[in-house]
Amino acid sequence: MPTVPSSVQSLIGRRVLLIVAGGIAAFKTPDLVRRLRERGASVRVVLTDGGAQFVTPLTLQAVSEDTVYRDLWSLTDESAMGHIQLSRSADVVLVAPATAHILARMAHGLADDLATTVLLATDKPVLVAPAMNVRMFEHPATQANLALLASRGVGIIGPDEGAMACGEYGPGRMAEPLAIADHLAGWFAAREAPKPLASRHALVTSGPTYEPIDPVRYIANRSSGKQGHAVAASLAALGARVTLVSGPVRLPDPPGVDVVAVETAAEMLAACRAALPADIFVAAAAVADWRVEAAGQKLKKDGGGPPTLALSENPDILASLSAPSPDRPALVIGFAAETNDIVAYARAKRLRKGCDWIVANDVSPATGTFGGDRNSVYVIRADGTEEAWENLAKTEVARRLADAISNHFETGKK
Ligand code: CTP
Repeated sequence: MPTVPSSVQSLIGRRVLLIVAGGIAAFKTPDLVRRLRERGASVRVVLTDGGAQFVTPLTLQAVSEDTVYRDLWSLTDESAMGHIQLSRSADVVLVAPATAHILARMAHGLADDLATTVLLATDKPVLVAPAMNVRMFEHPATQANLALLASRGVGIIGPDEGAMACGEYGPGRMAEPLAIADHLAGWFAAREAPKPLASRHALVTSGPTYEPIDPVRYIANRSSGKQGHAVAASLAALGARVTLVSGPVRLPDPPGVDVVAVETAAEMLAACRAALPADIFVAAAAVADWRVEAAGQKLKKDGGGPPTLALSENPDILASLSAPSPDRPALVIGFAAETNDIVAYARAKRLRKGCDWIVANDVSPATGTFGGDRNSVYVIRADGTEEAWENLAKTEVARRLADAISNHFETGKK
């Protein structure tokens, strides 16, 4: 078996019950079994009849080096291990590929074959890696089933976006086996990590705001929401209850986070106020500074030249939540998007807005920060301490910020 670089998270000693349902992506499951096993997991497979149309039991038996379970009524399988026992014989149940059909059966609690019986009987956490045609994935029925399963604590991995076996393009491809194995390793690590923020409520803003000009047009900015969403995910990973108030973004909701979707700055402020009280407020959104006095009807070219847009200033959400009040979160953190004189502007901005810390970043186009995956930041705190975190993945900036927040509360306790 190939050796795994030490940089990848291990699955040593983890027992995975893999349910293979009937989608074309089932052909990738022998590779998935290999990826899980090379990280140290043991894998036991339940194969549905549909799954067996795409991958043979013999292949899965060979790569898992274990019996492949198929039949609810089989005397052999049942005598080797009953479905109840099978459902408890792992640390986690992973459904990959999770077809629209098996998701629907899970959502509705059906138990008409071994796989769904195991899923209904298990007392172990369940993760699914959806795989199906894009229309099937986007169908309200599938989306409702996924939302229901997520609300019951089922973890959802992917799907990826791309060209599909059916010739269409979009979200619905099963996440790659390597990504599923990494996700699972990260999932175990997060579950077992200490939860120093367990008793805290964190409120985070993320993404851009859209300010309407008329019913069809709006002013926006290039914020992707990647940094704010990563902060929300990192705070949740440390156990905080997180409310993420997000402008329009093309990102999945971070797991375990309550997401409130808004469009305008005014809506963002109202949603933030409604989410109070909070112990922590992180303002990572790129809030539009101005709004337009929006026209009730579409502006038309009437021969009189371009219209003049009358702008008025938006409420400053960070300044407003930083202001002294009984509801002021104990720790308020702003971001400062600057293109020059970053530190000087950020220090002044922290004082002007009244927040406790400010995370300054250079958003000049050459840095690729807006929309990109990396960030270099400079953290300025009210107690005079300052730190530079250079050239990190946005997820790493988020992790460090969440750690710093947790240290802040730990130190405050002493
Ligand atoms: N912010 C906010 N509400 C606004 C504008 C900004 O909450 N209406 C928050 C941002 O989320 C960020 C911080 O304020 O945490 C600084 O945002 P930034 O765009 O850097 O500053 P501006 O307020 O636009 O100030 P300037 O125009 O001087 O750069």
